[in-house]
Amino acid sequence: MVFPDYRPRRLRRNVQLRSLIRETRLSSEQLIYPLFVIHGKGVREEIPSMPGVFRLSVDQLAKEAKEILSLGINHVILFGLPEKKDPAGSGSHAKDGVIQRAIKELKNKAPGLMVSTDVCLCEYTSHGHCGVLVDKQVDNDATLEILAKIALSHAQAGADIVAPSDMMDGRVAEIRGILDENNFEMVPIMSYAVKYASAFYGPFRDAADCAPQEGDRQAYQMDPANAREALREATLDVDEGADILMVKPAVAYLDIISRLKDEFDLPIAAYHVSGEYAMIKAAGERGWIDPEKVLAETLLSIHRAGADIIISYGAKEMAKMLNG
Ligand code: PBG
Repeated sequence: MVFPDYRPRRLRRNVQLRSLIRETRLSSEQLIYPLFVIHGKGVREEIPSMPGVFRLSVDQLAKEAKEILSLGINHVILFGLPEKKDPAGSGSHAKDGVIQRAIKELKNKAPGLMVSTDVCLCEYTSHGHCGVLVDKQVDNDATLEILAKIALSHAQAGADIVAPSDMMDGRVAEIRGILDENNFEMVPIMSYAVKYASAFYGPFRDAADCAPQEGDRQAYQMDPANAREALREATLDVDEGADILMVKPAVAYLDIISRLKDEFDLPIAAYHVSGEYAMIKAAGERGWIDPEKVLAETLLSIHRAGADIIISYGAKEMAKMLNG
């Protein structure tokens, strides 16, 4: 049936018809809000390149958690800014490290809030790379042991989900192994399975003070030109025991999200990263776009492409819009 017998506009005639046939809906239950936790006391400082996003000290978390929960968001993911960094990133798995304390504080004061943690070394190493260096190269196998320690320390502090973002080979199996040995077999791994070496991480590296001092991350993160390799990376993580597969960044990689959704039956997460968020904010500040509408359309598109779970710095604003 074609025009004039068939008219697609018939079902777009009014808001009730449009919402009746809507294929994709976003809900605040799908959103994860990232939190940057910094050492010190009484700190609540806005990140210049990420308007509306703050670095918070541990004592500020309870208040933030309350607001997040009141918006209908049930999940956060934590990133840490430790007091001291060293070449081995030892602050990452310290018992009283900033993230370990943050997890305890949140689980104490806001037990209903699910806490995921970023498992990586880059925020804790003096050189800013995601693993330990041997001859100026990130050494894969030496890094695995430390990643496992980080994940275990997060689980011991009470983390609900651990999310390795380092892109070392074999880390999911290593983390699953140590968690199971220590009776944390119920802690899921949300793997940053497909993480590209992306320029969209710029503002995050400011926020978490983790830009590599020398070189870049292309020897471990993926080449933006590759899509078939994403399937291989995801397959490896599935075989190693990942529970959730993440694609990162999100907007520039909607095709990858869509392919993973088709190929795998695990839940798919997507990370709407700092640069993707900052661009909306910057254009909004100039009055060139409506930042709220663009944020809503962006997150909807990520969901439409296949992401069940969306991590976004705009999660709170989005939830406010959804609550209407
Ligand atoms: C750490 C990590 C990064 C991001 C999340 N975890 C930075 C990086 O790999 O350089 C980026 C998040 C963002 O840009 O919002 N490995």
